[in-house]
Amino acid sequence: LATGSSPLEFYKQIRESDLDLSNLISVNLDEYVGLTGDDPQSYRYFMEKNLFDAKPFKESYLPSGVEESADQEVIRYNKILEEHPVDLQILGIGRNGHIGFNEPGTSFDSQTHLVQLDDSTIEANSRFFDKIEDVPTQAISMGIANILAAKSIVLFAYGESKAQAIKGTVEGERTEKVPASALQGHPNVTIIADKEALNLLSR
Ligand code: GLP
Repeated sequence: LATGSSPLEFYKQIRESDLDLSNLISVNLDEYVGLTGDDPQSYRYFMEKNLFDAKPFKESYLPSGVEESADQEVIRYNKILEEHPVDLQILGIGRNGHIGFNEPGTSFDSQTHLVQLDDSTIEANSRFFDKIEDVPTQAISMGIANILAAKSIVLFAYGESKAQAIKGTVEGERTEKVPASALQGHPNVTIIADKEALNLLSR
C-alpha cells in the first residue's frame, strides 16, 4: 500500500464499501525515519486513519522509522516481503518520478533500503508539515525490485504536477533517472490518472 494524497479516494471508497479485509495482509511501501507510529505525519498514522481503523487487515506491515539500527530494520522488512509476496501493489508517483521513496538514480535491482530524500521531495511533502525543517530527510523504502515483484500494479496520478513524471513513465526511456519508468518492464500495470496528469502524453 502507498501513502500520499493520490490513493486517498481509493481508501475512502474502500472505507465506505462493505469489503472485508480481515483475511488479507497489507505491506506498505515506506516510512519516514525519525517519526513514531503515533506521529500524525508518520505513514503508519496515515494508514490507520485512512484505512486500517475502518477496515482492519489480518496483519499490516510498515517499516519502522525509529529503530536504533536502520540496517536491521531493512533486513527485517525484506524478510517480511519474502514471506508475503505481493499480489496487488498500490502506487502513487512523485513529481520527479519516484515510486515509494525510490528517488531518481535508485537501482532497478534495489530491495528495501535507507533513502536520503531529494530536496524536491522534501519540498513537495512539506505541505503536510508545519514547516519544511520538520520534514524528515530520510526514509526506509521498499526497493524497485520489490515493487516489480508484485503480480499486478495500480498507480494513481492526479494533477499537472505529475504530468512530466507520467510522460517519463509511459513514453520515456526506461531509465533509473525516472524510477517509475521501471514499470515498463512489468507485464501488468494500470495507471489511473486525470486529464492534467496525462496532458504531456503524445498519444
Ligand atoms: C511520497 C510517498 C510516495 C507518494 C508520493 C506522491 O513521497 N512516499 O509513495 O507516491 O509522495 O504523493 P502524493 O500522492 O501526495 O502526490
